[in-house]
Amino acid sequence: MSAGPEQIAEAVRRLNGGGLVAFPTETVYGLGADALSAAAVERVYELKGRPAGNPLIVHVSGPEMARRATGVWPDSAQRLAEAFWPGPLSIVLPKDERLPDRVTGGGSTVAVRCPDHPLTLALIDAFGGPLVGPSANRSGMISPTDATHVRASFSEDEVFVLDGGPCPRGIESTVLRLEGDGYREATVLRPGVVGAEAIASVLDGPVRNADIESDEIHSVAESPGLMGRHYAPRARAVLVDREQLVSAEAGEAIVAIDFDEAPEGVFVVAMPSNASAYAARLYAAVREADEANPSRILIERPPLRGPDASSEAVWRAVHDRLRRATAPA
Ligand code: TXA
Ligand code: MG
Repeated sequence: MSAGPEQIAEAVRRLNGGGLVAFPTETVYGLGADALSAAAVERVYELKGRPAGNPLIVHVSGPEMARRATGVWPDSAQRLAEAFWPGPLSIVLPKDERLPDRVTGGGSTVAVRCPDHPLTLALIDAFGGPLVGPSANRSGMISPTDATHVRASFSEDEVFVLDGGPCPRGIESTVLRLEGDGYREATVLRPGVVGAEAIASVLDGPVRNADIESDEIHSVAESPGLMGRHYAPRARAVLVDREQLVSAEAGEAIVAIDFDEAPEGVFVVAMPSNASAYAARLYAAVREADEANPSRILIERPPLRGPDASSEAVWRAVHDRLRRATAPA
């Protein structure tokens, strides 16, 4: 059931009163609050149980509103916004000094993005200002891709949920840092469906991928949320190859593409083989597996490759999330 004008009006009332509103986006649901209110932002950290130094993404209606949150708006950012907004690309730039320090976890940069969802664009419009929006889950848990997932984590009193149905992309936005001369040096801090190749063609220059497994990212203090175990279910999840699936034991769960030889007593969640469809389904699938209360969740390593650049970007982002979901606690 999708929300309408009445729910948007109620959401705006909540935001004006310093309250929290979960909003749908094309990626995952966000936990929204007035980005210009330090007290409202503080509530987001409290409710999520989010470490104080992990900065929030500021959601805007477009480049004009983005300029209210960032201290600069270079031509590189404008071009990226024109190419990818509304859409799953968060752009990191120096922050505007009027933005509460709490939003950026005390850091000097801010991530801004314009989400591609009509309800949330209408919400930002009606509210008239930027909203912080971390994924609407408790810190470290799986991001919500449906309103029911948000409801499972937060009570009606804590959070007003704008129901926009399932999120079509299913994994969080690409986080891209711009810096250097003319802000033309671009680094992907968190892979998403907007890949480095697509970004490079808009910027007309190279884009670095801060590989999660390299030493570099482990020492990047500005991106604390990008490290280690994250997006994790309750049950221990492990990443396995197809050969290992057949040795699953009763009481375990499997998340796999086209797998129909599951041993007795193994709970199977079937995944699509297409990259975008896989990403859209991933978090809900892991939740379903988790809800079966398995002793372990075996996730089959999906393909890494192709068939084209845009599916490779999606697989790369999927692998990133799977690596974190299965990282040792
Ligand atoms: O798709 C998304 O991005 C979703 C929807 C709701 O928009 N939001 C989301 O927010 O995933 P969150 O807070 O769960 O993840 C934001 C990530 C974190 O890993 C955080 O560390 C990083 O972005 N981040 C935010 N601001 C940053 C900054 N100024 N510099 C570097 N990393 C930043
Ligand atoms: Mg999150």
